[in-house]
Amino acid sequence: MSEFSSSQVVELKHSLAQHHLALLRDKATRPSQFRYHAGVLATLLAAEVTSNLPLRKVSVQTPLEVMECQELDARIAAVPILRAGLGMVTPLTDMIPDLEVWHLGLYRDEETAQPVHYYDKLPATHPPDVAIVLDPMLATGGSASLAIAALKRWKVARIFMLSIIAAPEGIRRVLAEHSDIRIYTAAIDRQLNDRKYILPGLGDAGDRIFNTLPH
Ligand code: PRP
Ligand code: URA
Repeated sequence: MSEFSSSQVVELKHSLAQHHLALLRDKATRPSQFRYHAGVLATLLAAEVTSNLPLRKVSVQTPLEVMECQELDARIAAVPILRAGLGMVTPLTDMIPDLEVWHLGLYRDEETAQPVHYYDKLPATHPPDVAIVLDPMLATGGSASLAIAALKRWKVARIFMLSIIAAPEGIRRVLAEHSDIRIYTAAIDRQLNDRKYILPGLGDAGDRIFNTLPH
């Protein structure tokens, strides 16, 4: 049983999530296929995180009669953390009409594993109603926590974190620093190693998405 309650962390149990995770983790998976599997997992996560968004009534004329339907009633933003979060953007823009995409540049210092903030175009006013932070890896939680803090400064009311793989250490940190956040992930892995990589994990997500693994 997970140490985290479902109000704090939603872990996908979907069979397709398990199947695409197996292929994503495989070290033999090449970048084009890695991007594809990451995209499917982002779609499954996006379906889950958006399942209870606010709706408003609309009147629709079908070919036969007029009926009452519903449409989204919220400004929704995706906030990919550069670089690896970019691999999760297209599935969301495909699914959510009028999605706003705001980029946040963070990288982890290789020595300290602390996030370094290098790019941010978040405006000071007019926050969206809902922000969905995208990053395939939640390791120490430092990057996610910094991103969430930036969105809170922007006064976003509802913030969700979407990660493909999360380490328990990182989840604990994010929830300790932001108890009002719900994390959606396809897998809660075992632990971090001494270089703060997730075990069993999948290696460096950004390098595998963008084919920049050292030769
Ligand atoms: C990775 C990953 C997260 C961060 C997670 O990014 O995509 O942003 O590390 O680690 P944390 O939870 O310990 O902060 P990385 O720094 O490798 O940058 P990249 O996406 O540009 O490759
Ligand atoms: N970033 C990654 O891409 N992978 C990890 O395991 C940890 C941080």
